[in-house]
Amino acid sequence: MAQPSNDLLLRRCRLLHPTASITDVDIAIADGRIVAIAPQLDCTAPLELDIQGQLVSPPFVESHVHLDSALTAGEPRWNQSGTLFEGIEIWRDRKQTLTLDDVKERAIATLKQQAMQGVLFVRSHADVSEKNLIALQGLLEVREQVKDWMTLQVVAFPQDGLYGGPQNAELMEEALKLGADAVGGIPHYELTREDGVRSVHRIFELAEKYDRLIDVHCDEIDDDQSRFLEVVMACAIRSGMGTEVTASHTTAFGSYNNAYAFKLLGLLQRTQVNFVSNPLINITLQGRTDTYPKRRGVTRVKELWQQGQNVSLGHDCIQDPWYSLGTGNMLDVATMAVHVCQMTGMSEMNACYNMVTWNGAKTLQIDDCYGIEVGKPANLIVLDAIDPYDAIRRRATVRYVISRGKLIAQTDSPTSHWKADTSVVTG
Ligand code: FE2
Repeated sequence: MAQPSNDLLLRRCRLLHPTASITDVDIAIADGRIVAIAPQLDCTAPLELDIQGQLVSPPFVESHVHLDSALTAGEPRWNQSGTLFEGIEIWRDRKQTLTLDDVKERAIATLKQQAMQGVLFVRSHADVSEKNLIALQGLLEVREQVKDWMTLQVVAFPQDGLYGGPQNAELMEEALKLGADAVGGIPHYELTREDGVRSVHRIFELAEKYDRLIDVHCDEIDDDQSRFLEVVMACAIRSGMGTEVTASHTTAFGSYNNAYAFKLLGLLQRTQVNFVSNPLINITLQGRTDTYPKRRGVTRVKELWQQGQNVSLGHDCIQDPWYSLGTGNMLDVATMAVHVCQMTGMSEMNACYNMVTWNGAKTLQIDDCYGIEVGKPANLIVLDAIDPYDAIRRRATVRYVISRGKLIAQTDSPTSHWKADTSVVTG
């Protein structure tokens, strides 16, 4: 019998499964899909990679980033206070000079940087508070341009508030007509609490009208009275849109009194709203008005995870007015979550790894085509690690990135050599 012709064969893989169990297998890929997974495949391919027992994982999922502002740190000035609100002011000035090429060049450079670190699925917000919708149009063009190696979702995000300017609500609707994948919002930054509530209702109306997902920047503030998550939750319950809805940041949840927080956690069990936490950014932006004790300003990741809500993690910012650091590496994000959310137990660290992989896929609603299984698109990464704990602890190098069945990036792990004369060192 003729052997099937493969394009790519991976030998001696340690294949990671969602439960963090691991099996030793070979993986065959043909026509962009995974065609066989077994301990020892009896076949060949033009390209065979000996994985040497390293960890094979589904790609990282970046479920919250702002590509339109990426790589602009210091333009036109640096954020001196380190606050969210100074960041918004700086971005308001920087976006006056946006051009399509400017947005596209920075977005593609960032996406390549992310892909080389194993990220193949990205949800980016695009600011639609600017009258020419340049950020949105740029990212929609990029979505098309990169689709052969990267899946990009674009959220129409009214950075200055849906009702913060006379045209903002119209611009949001225009953005959806142009093809944004999701409706965004920022209720805690609207002019009044009532505007914030009204904005959430409008977001749900628009999502139903245009059949789009929802991803709201929700309660990204230390104010323990910022309570728009309950409005998002109520709209999700009444509309039945649970899994299509994401509440991003929800940092005020970390400041709520426990009586209210526990009530909210109980009510949240009635919906399947997704949560995205951005620990790198929130640990630096939040708590800036506190003296001591100083709050961490991060949502209740551990408690949400413990009660079975879908929680994923995002980088949020990569060298922009809110955060001048960052490379797009999702293991940096997972590591920060382990620390800030105090998730240092082994099952908790495995959970943090899942939050930058499977859970992210669920947030993006792409879980049906995500994962390393026969018949699914061949998207996978090879890490210089033996398991998720090892990957997080050492921020392991992503050695190979395979997208749609093609090897698109390779990185050699750095090696160190001991050079000192031992007799001198020991003295
Ligand atoms: Fe954000």
